[in-house]
Amino acid sequence: MRMNKLVASFALVSAVALTATACAGGGGNTGGTGGGDDVITVGFAQTGSESGWRSANTESMKEAFSAENGFDLIFNAADNKPEAQIAAVRSFINQGVDAIVLAPIVSDGWDDVLQEAKDAGIPVILEDRTVSASDDLYASWIGLDFEKEGQTAGAWVAENFGSTPTNLVVLEGTTGSSAATDRQTGFDAAIEGTDISVLDSQTGNFTRAEGKTVMEGFLQKFGSEINVLFAHNDDMGLGALDAIKAAGLTPGKDISIVTIDAVKDGMTALADGEFNFIVECNPLLGEKTAEVVKSVVAGESVDKQYIVEDQSFTPEQAKEVLDSRPY
Ligand code: AHR
Repeated sequence: MRMNKLVASFALVSAVALTATACAGGGGNTGGTGGGDDVITVGFAQTGSESGWRSANTESMKEAFSAENGFDLIFNAADNKPEAQIAAVRSFINQGVDAIVLAPIVSDGWDDVLQEAKDAGIPVILEDRTVSASDDLYASWIGLDFEKEGQTAGAWVAENFGSTPTNLVVLEGTTGSSAATDRQTGFDAAIEGTDISVLDSQTGNFTRAEGKTVMEGFLQKFGSEINVLFAHNDDMGLGALDAIKAAGLTPGKDISIVTIDAVKDGMTALADGEFNFIVECNPLLGEKTAEVVKSVVAGESVDKQYIVEDQSFTPEQAKEVLDSRPY
């Protein structure tokens, strides 16, 4: 673990001190043992393990922040509990890590702990989702354009259903997460002014189990009145499939299903005609995040944000690419 960060007040002073150390070839310590190597200790505060996307993202991060790549990774998954995630970040600060990577469960509530990290001279790099706190409190964000994902999903629904009266239900992601908020904003804008009516919209917390339960409720309330389901991720859509089948309806035909992520199980459902359209959300953010962390710790300047491009898939396209997808 690099000792110079203890005396730095982040930003400029920190950058200069770290660069000087690197140029002098002095390196830092690992785990406070007083050694002379350049291992970078990183605390990664992951959301939890709520979805297939999250598993792929965790794997990508662990692979990139490996010992071979010069990192000592301290991993924490907060089981989708914001208080537990704030506690994890505070613990990383107390351990004096070189950098903190944060995939924030929700956007709000980060001001105090991010200020504490800044005061301790520990840079924070956001990965995946964003926070509402001032961008002075973190060095960079590596993520996806969630609003565009929602907009792409909405544009498909508007194009295919927008000119005839259509009833839609929504399975939202975790309330207060930037992924859920921004996707819905983009989707709403795309279906505005069409003949689509939103019958109901509730959170399924990005999980398969809750997606199923909430969809069961929608089916009890509205039955076969539902024409389209928009699920903020594949997992909730996959949970809803079970509920739709159990209600004696055919997913993909009686109820059209549009989701976001494009993980293996979702793409399989799409190729099988049970889903109708998927917008990708690329979980392979590890390599870019590790590169940014290295630059920040070395005192090099980095962009405030790096957006990874997404694609979208129809059933025919899913069939073509399914076998070659890495996750
Ligand atoms: O923040 C990205 C979202 O989080 C993914 O779409 C979802 O599957 C995950 O849980």
